[in-house]
Amino acid sequence: MSAMSPTPSSPSAAPDATSSVDPVWAELYEEIADCPRCPLARTRSRTVPGVGPAHADVMFIGEAPGAREDERGVPFVGPAGQFLDELLAGIGLTREAVYIANVVKCRPPANRDPEPSEIEACASYLDRQIATVDPKVVVTLGRFSMARWFAGQTISRIHGQPKRIDGRVIVPMYHPAAALHNGSLRAVIAADFARLPEFIAEVRS
Ligand code: URA
Repeated sequence: MSAMSPTPSSPSAAPDATSSVDPVWAELYEEIADCPRCPLARTRSRTVPGVGPAHADVMFIGEAPGAREDERGVPFVGPAGQFLDELLAGIGLTREAVYIANVVKCRPPANRDPEPSEIEACASYLDRQIATVDPKVVVTLGRFSMARWFAGQTISRIHGQPKRIDGRVIVPMYHPAAALHNGSLRAVIAADFARLPEFIAEVRS
């Protein structure tokens, strides 16, 4: 493994936005880097477009960058990302094999929830990422990405339950950060993750 692709379980050594990016993303990431569409453009340090290959069977969609992500320009490199890396490793996946993005590409001040207008302003970027990656399985992490496919639902009710929508399997899951606030969710999230290989194998066959 090169210095540009550190082990997933060591977020302190995680890549930043200058690490090698598949050329397919160049235009979109540059557009996002210059994005003026919402007020988050005035408070961000860096945009956090997404990370991963041009195509992947599995795509994870979180909420919005936090402080560490805002510094590095890469999603899920803080404490929640460390837990995500552990969860991926637990099912034999690495960051390099999946695509990871957020609903909103810029950090909301003080990590507040993204506003509906900010989610809307960013929506076409996520549309383009999904269209390019063309994942067979989409894992939504937390309620904001869940709402894109499961409007009006609550995560406590539907987490871990896959649904086939528009030719993809969408699996709503708790956000990994939820386990940092409520330790009992750790086992719940790990159990939901443990079923992912089964869902991936089903759509591959
Ligand atoms: N939480 C998210 O939803 N995304 C990140 O990139 C980091 C934390």
